Amino acid sequence: MTTIQLPQLQRDVDLRAFNTFGFSARAERFLRVESLESLQQAVALARGQGWPLLVLGGGSNLVLRERLPGLVVQIALKGRSVHIDGETVLATVAAGENWHETVAWSLGQGYYGLENLALIPGTVGAAPMQNIGAYGVELEERFHSLKALDTETGAIRHFTREACAFGYRDSLFKSAQPGRYIILEVTFALSRAALPVLRYRALVDELEQHGIASPTPLDVFEAVCRIRRSKLPDPSEVGNAGSFFKNPVVAADRYRALHEAFPDIVAYPAGDAYKLAAGWLIDRCGWKGRSLGPVGVYRNQALVLVNGGGGTASDLLALADAVRASVLERFGVELEMEPRIYPA
Ligand code: EPU
Repeated sequence: MTTIQLPQLQRDVDLRAFNTFGFSARAERFLRVESLESLQQAVALARGQGWPLLVLGGGSNLVLRERLPGLVVQIALKGRSVHIDGETVLATVAAGENWHETVAWSLGQGYYGLENLALIPGTVGAAPMQNIGAYGVELEERFHSLKALDTETGAIRHFTREACAFGYRDSLFKSAQPGRYIILEVTFALSRAALPVLRYRALVDELEQHGIASPTPLDVFEAVCRIRRSKLPDPSEVGNAGSFFKNPVVAADRYRALHEAFPDIVAYPAGDAYKLAAGWLIDRCGWKGRSLGPVGVYRNQALVLVNGGGGTASDLLALADAVRASVLERFGVELEMEPRIYPA
């Protein structure tokens, strides 16, 4: 058996710059991988040594605890290619590419469909993990297929949309088989024809306020960027992971009872059920803008928890517990966390 050597492997690395909460988390070992070959070696090494393995993209949907045993791998695979077939554009993008830069690139090329998903932090490889979504579009609607490394067999597998089992902020990679597959590249099905998606009230209002009646994809992109900048903190300034909780889905009779008790509750029909705006529930419990030690609830969007500086995962999880307890007590609704905690 040949011994695997990874000369670039670093020890005892502070991951503060690699997670958008800006938590100081020390990785026992850390490796940035720029090629499939070094990723395969790293996975084989971790398996051989029995090291826990954390695969990092942009670190924008993670709560890192202070000590991370084993190996942390940062995916830095780069590259984009396109295949054009009439109006349809299949754009294949490597997992380590930045998400927002990819959205901007696609628009610049005249490939439309990702504009509603502008300014979401993170990488392309992380996007299918939780089926990112915003302002009326979910990733799965623009998804064609992906390639992933199976860490159990070492094989490279191709996944169609059906095989990914996408759901609301959910996929096979997040729920059914967590940690098993490492996403290498994603192929998007985009269009050379502009088909603006104007389903989201706040987006329509923003365009109207700017006097735009027939928006181009670039108008939509810019409007989404403006809304996000006004509501969501920039992780390079204030540590955060976007929405900290999912919007809870409740049965129709439950929604009707809540609506009776709280007539201004914000909710959207979701099939036979209703999706409640968790931001509204948290806001109504008086949490917006409140701090608990170094962490707090963002002043412009109660669904976002922030690290004011110097906070830790324990501080944040204590705040999250307090918020959940308030919402449960007042509305009888359980909130589910969106980011992943590591180590679990
Ligand atoms: N609201 C309040 N107070 C608040 C926040 C929200 O009353 O502090 C109410 C408002 O009535 C508002 C409604 O809740 O109209 C919905 O708020 P918003 O439009 O900001 O959207 P959201 O449901 O809070 C979801 C996603 C976001 C995504 C936006 C836009 C989830 C968990 N979050 O937020 O995704 O950007 O819609 O589509 O589904 C993320 O997942 O990290 C994320 C940022």
